[in-house]
Amino acid sequence: MVSRRFILKSAVAGAAALAFPLYRSGRLEAKPSVATFENTLPIPSLLEGRMENGQRIFDLSLQRGRHEFFSGVETPSAGINGDYLGPVLRMRRGDRVRFNVTNNMSEDSTLHWHGVHLPAKMDGGPHQVIKPGGTWKPEFEIRQPASTQWYHSHMFHRTGVQVYYGLAGLFYIDDDESDALGLPSDYGVDDIPLVLQDRAFNRDGSFSYLRSMPERMNGMRGDVMLVNGAPFPTHDVASRRMRLRLLNGSNARIYNLKFSDGRAMRQIASDGGLLEKPVTLRSLRLSPGERAEVIVEFSPGDAVVLQHEPLPQRRRRRGMMMGMMMMGGGDDQPFEIMRFTAKRPARAKGDVPEHLVKVRSWNPAAAAKTRKMVLDMRMGPAMMSGNGFTINGKAMDMKRIDEKIRLGDVEIWEIRNDSPMPHPFHIHDIQFRILDRDGQHPPLNERGLKDTVLVESGETVRVITQFEDYADPKNPYMFHCHILEHEDGGMMGQFVVV
Ligand code: C2O
Ligand code: CU
Ligand code: CU
Repeated sequence: MVSRRFILKSAVAGAAALAFPLYRSGRLEAKPSVATFENTLPIPSLLEGRMENGQRIFDLSLQRGRHEFFSGVETPSAGINGDYLGPVLRMRRGDRVRFNVTNNMSEDSTLHWHGVHLPAKMDGGPHQVIKPGGTWKPEFEIRQPASTQWYHSHMFHRTGVQVYYGLAGLFYIDDDESDALGLPSDYGVDDIPLVLQDRAFNRDGSFSYLRSMPERMNGMRGDVMLVNGAPFPTHDVASRRMRLRLLNGSNARIYNLKFSDGRAMRQIASDGGLLEKPVTLRSLRLSPGERAEVIVEFSPGDAVVLQHEPLPQRRRRRGMMMGMMMMGGGDDQPFEIMRFTAKRPARAKGDVPEHLVKVRSWNPAAAAKTRKMVLDMRMGPAMMSGNGFTINGKAMDMKRIDEKIRLGDVEIWEIRNDSPMPHPFHIHDIQFRILDRDGQHPPLNERGLKDTVLVESGETVRVITQFEDYADPKNPYMFHCHILEHEDGGMMGQFVVV
């Protein structure tokens, strides 16, 4: 018997099958700068703020602009204090910080501090809207270890498009403990940021965003890889030992990063800061919202490409047909991202000690509660109306508080993915540890602090954390899928700490 639900599903899946990623359709070769590595990697400017009455103050402007991604072609874009992306904001643990965020655009926006532990009303989520012409002035204290965090728009139903246009940047926290390790830390020299984003462009140079149902379902992917805003760039390294701070700032694409010659990377940090010890990897999976810091060694004369190597896709039985169709728009083709050369690299500075830091952890026996989160996608009318993505059967509602958490509680969250594609699950305010993936210990590089975890189709991931310091019954924090089209489509919920 063929149910109505099944017919709706197949109809949508049929449409999905038509939408191959552009890089497979042959249009990529026609693009001016594809994988020729002729662009120089831009290094974002570093903003350390100014001190005023013991507070570190950052002035930020959300603005529209035009950016030349391809020479001679201007793309309408957006940025923070610039025309695409924003500066790297740098501060220290213990700092009292304030941000003056002025919205110089003609539409509402917000600015969220991803990965940062702070009071809910300073979080910059969908409730902290900044009107055109308005200035929002959040202030808080930095109470977490050295780490690579980031900031981006979190406008309700508009996060995807605003981030796609460029409203995102990096947020570095330093502390004494990490300084004492002597890791490479000369910004822009042997310590460089790499913001990975894929974008699709129209022939006139404008961004192409959400033009088909599959793009809504799978999330928005593009055929042009931008690193720090430059298409397929090259970076000539200044040192034989480089620290790369990677951010997957893409709307939907999951990368499995690998060097063309298979050289090793030593991962030293995950989302929430340094790992206990470096983990040697040949490839590194990074889903939207996740960060990783890696140390890579170069020798004079090197020319090596950082690329995406597809991982075997994992699919559940239920929805398998739809899953197979949908993943056609997924991450199953290899492609190149950027090139590193080492023309005259200086002697390696900085050490990579065998022991880095003690990473905070919580005992599962101390958990006051286990909360279940079931991620799912509904096809058909719900999808068409923009509410097809759910957590525990519900699409996001700004007026509904989904979870109430007691201040100080240790909790386990059990996240299960009942849908046919993977979802990177993100929780605001806290950093967690991954307890297990389907009952198995997580890989070594996932044993540090995290705020975003990829949950495969059919997988159950348990994480543990503690909700500390800030209680506020009125202002919620968010938890959501970090595929921005899924977040905008309803896969988000709200919690308060009381
Ligand atoms: Cu990167 Cu809710 O955020
Ligand atoms: Cu966040
Ligand atoms: Cu998702």
